[in-house]
Amino acid sequence: MSRDEEWVKLSSEILTCSGCRLSESRSRAVPGEGSLTARLVLIGEAPGKSEDEAGRPFVGAAGKLLNQLLEVNGIKRGEVFITNVVKCRPPSNRDPLDDEVMSCAPFTNRIIQLIQPSIITTLGNHSGRYVFEVLGGGRWHGVTRMRGKTYVFKILGRNVTVIPTYHPAAALYNPGPRAGLEEDFKLIASKYREVLQSEVKVSGRRRTLLDYLR
Ligand code: URA
Repeated sequence: MSRDEEWVKLSSEILTCSGCRLSESRSRAVPGEGSLTARLVLIGEAPGKSEDEAGRPFVGAAGKLLNQLLEVNGIKRGEVFITNVVKCRPPSNRDPLDDEVMSCAPFTNRIIQLIQPSIITTLGNHSGRYVFEVLGGGRWHGVTRMRGKTYVFKILGRNVTVIPTYHPAAALYNPGPRAGLEEDFKLIASKYREVLQSEVKVSGRRRTLLDYLR
């Protein structure tokens, strides 16, 4: 099955999932969106009202800030992949519960296995804790302590650089997280460029002179 075909299958499973209580109150599940060959995957918390209506991740106020953070750092939203640890909106935007995160875990893991990113950025505590503790086998000490650094974990059989940062919603009205987010996105972009360059070098070795004329 091609990546595109796998994504059609996986996203339709997510759209029709009734694996936890959130399926009863959602309008639409939000599988995620972006490039299926992205080197960078961003994982948020859960859809909010706008995302639940649109069926797309990060399209509300937090999404606008996320778009800006990507854009000012020279990253197109369409070249990364964006998803959430929980794919359906928790009622009244409450925090997702651990069993909801774990009910969605097979989907989250299949997305990571499908895309095989080199970098995962976690947005906020729920996603940070899931990626560090469940996938990476590490310890999560809260986003304020963990952010601003890169970590390497073996995740689902591959080495992945994990860069945790605040959830954009936390930064909408607070200057502290906002400055941290801006700083962290510079780090994310610089690591991302490094990855892209190293992959060009590797694939460059296999090219012939003719490829450069095309
Ligand atoms: N907050 C999230 O964590 N995810 C979204 O998709 C939107 C807001």
